[in-house]
Amino acid sequence: MTERAVRAAELRRQIAHHNERYHVLDSPEIADADYDLLVRELLKLETDHPELALADSPTSQVGAAPLSATFAPVIHRVPMTSLDNAMDETELAQWGDRVSRGLAGVTARFVCELKIDGLAMSLRYEQGKFVQAATRGDGRVGEDVTANVATIASLPKRLPRGAPEVVEVRGEVYMPITSFEALNERAALAGQPRFANPRNAGAGSLRQKDPRVTATRELSFWCYQLGEVIGGPEFTSHHETLEFLGELGFPVNPEIRVVDDVAGVFDFAGHWQEHRHTLPYEIDGVVAKVDELEQRLRLGFTSRAPRWAIAFKFPPEERTTILRDIQVSVGRTGRTTPFAVLDPVFVGGSTVRMATLHNEDQVRVKDVRPGDTVIVRKAGDVIPEVVGPVLSLRPEGSEPWQFPKICPCPLATELVRPQGEADTRCVEPACPFQRDQRVIYFASRGAMDIEGLGERTVFQLSDAGLIDDPADIYTLTAEQLLGLEGFARISADKLLASIEGSKTRPLPKLLTALGIKGLGPSASESLSLAFGTLDSILAADEAALATTEGVGPVIAGSICRWSAIDANRTFVEKLRRAGVDFGRVEVSRLAPVLAGKAVVVTGTLEKYSREEAELAIKARGGKSPASVSAKTFAVVVGDTPGASKITKAQELGVPILDDAAFEELLTTGSLPE
Ligand code: IVH
Repeated sequence: MTERAVRAAELRRQIAHHNERYHVLDSPEIADADYDLLVRELLKLETDHPELALADSPTSQVGAAPLSATFAPVIHRVPMTSLDNAMDETELAQWGDRVSRGLAGVTARFVCELKIDGLAMSLRYEQGKFVQAATRGDGRVGEDVTANVATIASLPKRLPRGAPEVVEVRGEVYMPITSFEALNERAALAGQPRFANPRNAGAGSLRQKDPRVTATRELSFWCYQLGEVIGGPEFTSHHETLEFLGELGFPVNPEIRVVDDVAGVFDFAGHWQEHRHTLPYEIDGVVAKVDELEQRLRLGFTSRAPRWAIAFKFPPEERTTILRDIQVSVGRTGRTTPFAVLDPVFVGGSTVRMATLHNEDQVRVKDVRPGDTVIVRKAGDVIPEVVGPVLSLRPEGSEPWQFPKICPCPLATELVRPQGEADTRCVEPACPFQRDQRVIYFASRGAMDIEGLGERTVFQLSDAGLIDDPADIYTLTAEQLLGLEGFARISADKLLASIEGSKTRPLPKLLTALGIKGLGPSASESLSLAFGTLDSILAADEAALATTEGVGPVIAGSICRWSAIDANRTFVEKLRRAGVDFGRVEVSRLAPVLAGKAVVVTGTLEKYSREEAELAIKARGGKSPASVSAKTFAVVVGDTPGASKITKAQELGVPILDDAAFEELLTTGSLPE
């Protein structure tokens, strides 16, 4: 056998195996995208080398024949074929060309539909009564799942007058995302394994022996095609059949577009690729179908799919790969985060090598172990996630992963997980891993924004023993940088210039850069406005900090604890000595005369809109909540005020201020005599 023939045989073996896992056992071992890659490789081999093509190759078959003893076989009178795929614009255009050629140059109109990620189902109605539901199986023989499908609430049990004598309605059974999440939550509570995705959960739900279980799974249905039809009206186009199905009471997906060419299909696909996550159910592409039924007849079928339709598949959001290791990273506050080290895999538009596993409990819930084949998901802008292991592929003898007891840094101090908390921490202030993260954070865009001081350079500086805390970056010299790999005169000078430039960053940036636990950019902004300088913030008592807008007791406590630590004081003094500006506030530097006071504004004032008045209050350290309570210091009333706020203020005896009184309040912080 040639090498090619061996590969083809191996691909056939793998595809047959995965067909059975997916279609018969409802327990796939690889993601759809990985399966598609195997089929495409075999198709290409068979097309390039026709001598390798076999009559019973999986490339000319649909799904897999059912094996089950639970569900009776159903022969499809009109076969349930699959769809050919186009992966990109070129393949879509090639399909469009094939259609045109098949119609001897006549241009076809297309109906664009969503490709629902569920399970194909054929529903049979006779004399208006629902009589049978069958899975696709191998396209010729499916399984009778009537009792389970009868539990789907959105399906009509009886059709109105005028329905054909016999009608088979084809479509997709799917599980809405909210039902899937609720099901997995229930599974987690019961200590049962979670379903990897709504499609698998839907498949499992349809295979229940007891339809009462299926009924709890909240399955739904979108129909998109007719099977056998006897009697009833004649149609000339696909979109008419969909309208008719809607009239008969079947759920027809509303996101349908009729277009004149493949460019229109591509446009529809582009729109849904971008907006797919706004839908309450999962789709994995779009389907384009020739609209004219007569044209469809002319085009006909290949061995496994109609020539008149194509599935335009979106780039995969799920792939399977090997989890090589679980490691733990240490953050700037000492929080440790386990993460998965993966065999690189292209998913969700980028190559994923690592994925966070969040914390110890998450690893336990997912029970992922080094060596496992895992499903990796990256949906839209969301960070990559390890969905779970493929249990059937777990290596023998593997043990649940244990969270490490000691910090991975060279000091190797013991990690602590406080009772009742999800996070495990390194509490060693001298931990070099925490220190490096603090420097990275200090230099990051939202903080001191030092261009050229990214993770890689920080690690270099750290390895060379040049930094003990972030303030040390201000003592770096060109000679020291030139000693590091990758630095030349120009790059060293450039980095030193951006470090120098960071000394005049506005106070909120500096405050954020200190890396105080819980203190982000927005609270830093409020504190800077209210207190004006870093020294006054770090010297303020907890109560004054806590009453600043957007701050509260947790952040206030964190700031005070931080300032009390000697190493942090030293760090601040080093920053001062380096010449970092401690009091640069972007907006005017106002006395925090309203610190701790809540002033409600209603209506428009002479000199301020309501929003401006609220800003003026916040700029002086006050709060400006939307409603009046017993804690409200005063209510400022302008033109067209809210009546309920005035009534409430009167009831509670809260002072009511006009324009002049408000001006005085802004200047002095007190109410007029
Ligand atoms: S039409 C002969 N339309 O995708 C035409 N299929 O990958 C048969 N699917 O087997 C299918 N949404 O399970 C069609 N709007 C849609 C679809 C759709 C999802 C599924 C269906 C099919 C598979 C092919």
